[in-house]
Amino acid sequence: MEETHITWHEHSVSREQRESLNGHRGCVVWFTGLSGCGKSTVANVVDQKLHARGIHTTVLDGDNVRHGLNASPQILESLGQEYAKRFGLGFSAEDRQENIRRVGAVTELFAASGLITLVAFVSPYRQDRASVRERVEAARAGDFVEVFMDTPLEVCESRDPKGLYQKARTGEIKGMTGIDAPYEAPEAPEVHLQGGDQTPDVLADQVIAHLVSVGIIHN
Ligand code: ADX
Repeated sequence: MEETHITWHEHSVSREQRESLNGHRGCVVWFTGLSGCGKSTVANVVDQKLHARGIHTTVLDGDNVRHGLNASPQILESLGQEYAKRFGLGFSAEDRQENIRRVGAVTELFAASGLITLVAFVSPYRQDRASVRERVEAARAGDFVEVFMDTPLEVCESRDPKGLYQKARTGEIKGMTGIDAPYEAPEAPEVHLQGGDQTPDVLADQVIAHLVSVGIIHN
């Protein structure tokens, strides 16, 4: 393998100093669930509620990140076919793995800068989520909070905000999570939300109650 000659450089302002300035810890709150399950909606309500409490937060969600950092080959086409093929990400298992790996690396940076980092990606593979958890928790145990947005497929499909389920059913698109690609539900999420039954407001309060109960934020 090629020698890389890259070393880790410590920053002058420590994580503890940033957190002390903020008055709370940084961490990663990772929402996972089917497309249309409501994870972005609830993450955004949590964001609003925390922001109103003076807590420093940010939100990363799959649909937005896939326009920039993890753009599709189609979006990158102007940079040339070969480039787009090499760096663009679609929805194969391997591309999703790389999507989650990159986002995981970004969440490590955001959490270390003292932000409560709310993340909403389908992230259907257990191993991909576990790898992010491992890296985040290597910095500090308890910093990865997995939120399983457990909304039944029928409910997601009836919402179908982007018409993707319909396209998957007619075969127009392939590899749709829950239809012809797997979703591996978390086995021991820190927070288990029943997405079909409750309003986003109630679900967001359940996430915030967990953050209070483990001491990430104070009441
Ligand atoms: S992930 O599987 O790699 O974590 P991500 O959260 O970034 O997915 O993107 C999911 C969004 O992409 C969905 O909300 C949906 O709008 C769109 N999408 C397009 N194709 C697919 C597909 N085959 N499976 C799931 N979502 C898809």
